[in-house]
Amino acid sequence: MSEVPAKKGNLGLSMLLNWPDDFVNKVICGDCLEVMKGMPDQCVDLVLTDPPYGINGGRGGGSKARGRGNYSGIFQDTREYIRDMVIGALKDCFRISRATIITPGSKNLDLYPQYDSFGCFYQPAAMGFQRWGMMDAQPILFYGEYYLQGIKPMPCSFILTEKPSCTEHPCSKPINAWIKLLERSCPKESIIFDPFLGSGTTAVAAIQTGRRFIGIEIDPGYCEIARRRIAQAQEQQDLFRKPAEDKQGELLLL
Ligand SMILES: C[S@@+](CC[C@H](N)C(=O)[O-])C[C@H]1O[C@@H](n2cnc3c(N)ncnc32)[C@H](O)[C@@H]1O
Repeated sequence: MSEVPAKKGNLGLSMLLNWPDDFVNKVICGDCLEVMKGMPDQCVDLVLTDPPYGINGGRGGGSKARGRGNYSGIFQDTREYIRDMVIGALKDCFRISRATIITPGSKNLDLYPQYDSFGCFYQPAAMGFQRWGMMDAQPILFYGEYYLQGIKPMPCSFILTEKPSCTEHPCSKPINAWIKLLERSCPKESIIFDPFLGSGTTAVAAIQTGRRFIGIEIDPGYCEIARRRIAQAQEQQDLFRKPAEDKQGELLLL
């Protein structure tokens, strides 16, 4: 995996990148609204993304106490940011993909466009406070069609007891939950796109399940974390593949 740099000079990053070589299996450091301009219509199989929730980075309910503070401050994680930036990016996701899965958080859910299916991660041990009680579910919005549609009915909700997959990012998602979402939604070899990559969970899930990825992240520090996790996942996949390839070589020699 080679690195794609952050915006240079006055040239928009989308002008500097060529589809598909500078995108597929790459982490692109930049603003997704700008980068997506360089992506053709319907060029990916699935968008799986977890944008900022518009709650000033915190996860509520003692997140700081658990050592999981706010974002680095490179953008303002406010309701206005969701309305003006995230929803704009989502419209572009609909242009470049046939299916989109998004975990919008609950606070600003009303800003999102009408979805085709609704599910949730049910978290029995969650500690978020709301006016009427504990927040124990994270919404999942599904747009477009999943690839087994008409063949096999799939659940839209999942029980989540797993911990976040990376402690260096305030909102890292649990890897096995992400793998479940991927596997129900697109076949192997598909290209999965995450415009809000964070610590790289979508890319790691794609690698571990034999799919390709494209990730955009605005914060260079989080890009580095994602690249490190991706390199580790790729190394592990190579280790799994190697014995099978060696065996094939032996057979050919006979
Ligand atoms: C909820 S976090 C994603 C966490 C991710 N699912 C993970 O497992 O690490 C949202 C991410 O979006 C990034 N972000 C915010 N605005 C962005 C933009 N305009 N373009 C690209 N990334 C952006 C933030 O820096 C943050 O890392």
